[in-house]
Order: sequence, then C-alpha cells, then structure tokens
Amino acid sequence: MKKILMVCLGNICRSPMAEGIVREEFKHAGIEVVVDSAGTAAYHIGEPADHRAQEELRKHDIDISEERAQQFIPEFFADYDFIFAMDESNYADLLSQATNGEERDKVRMLMDIVEGENNIPIPDPYYQEDEGFARVYKMIKRAAEVLVEEDIYK
Ligand code: 4NP
Repeated sequence: MKKILMVCLGNICRSPMAEGIVREEFKHAGIEVVVDSAGTAAYHIGEPADHRAQEELRKHDIDISEERAQQFIPEFFADYDFIFAMDESNYADLLSQATNGEERDKVRMLMDIVEGENNIPIPDPYYQEDEGFARVYKMIKRAAEVLVEEDIYK
C-alpha cells in the first residue's frame, strides 16, 4: 500500500486539510492508501487542526478532529512514497533535509500534479479570514481528484 505525506509549515491548517480531503477522495474511489501530514516547524506539535480548518472540512462532511500536529523528521523520507509540499517554502525546507536523489524525487509541490498549475503555492490561511480556508479546500480538492486518477498511487 502506498504512503502519502502532506507537508506545510505548522501542520494545523493546510496539511491536515490535505490529509483529510485526499484520504476521503481515495476512500470514495475505493483505493487503499495511507495519508498522513506533518509540519516543517515545531510550533504546534500535539495540537489539533485550527478550528477554521476543521469547520471548513465539516462543511464537506470530512472530520479531522482526531488529527494532531507532528513535525517532519528526515526518517519520513524512508517511511513515505510520496511527499507533497503545500508551498515553495515547505518544498525548499524538505529538499534541504533530503540526503540523496531518491529522497528528493519523492518531494513535489501538491498543485504541480494539476495540469497548468505548476509552481502554484497553496497560500497559508493562518493569518487570513475564513475565505482563505475555503480557497485552500478548493485547491486541494482539485489536486485530490487528480491524485486518485493516477495509477502510481494504486
Ligand atoms: P499551516 O499554517 O502551515 O497551513 O499549518 C500555519 C500555522 C501556524 C503558523 C504558520 C502557518 N504559525 O506561524 O504559527
């Protein structure tokens, strides 16, 4: 079974949303995968997802109340097959921790899998209003729909 890791900065907004949305999309498609998330920073370790992230996903019947923030550690390169960064800063941070080409090849910006969206970051909604979270949902949902269509995750 393939293992996918979603990575942002704090692991309380974007990546727990990505974990929930992508897990749900694979479940609907009947494809068994493991989806987890982590943050590059340590600020929020052990905390549940931001209440605004939880509320946005509740609108779409996705429950992420059990998720707790963890920090990315280099061991995760061995644990996961695919590692998706939410923005270019997360991407650079992950690449700086990779020690060989195999590890670097596992890392991509999430929106890069959506045709025509190369190098588009998922903007950090932490200091934004609720619309920021709705926007994050829409972007990740598009990426999730592409992910389940690709054979490499099966
Ligand atoms: P996330 O958002 O990376 O999408 O989880 C953030 C959460 C917290 C902080 C920054 C971004 N922070 O600076 O505490």
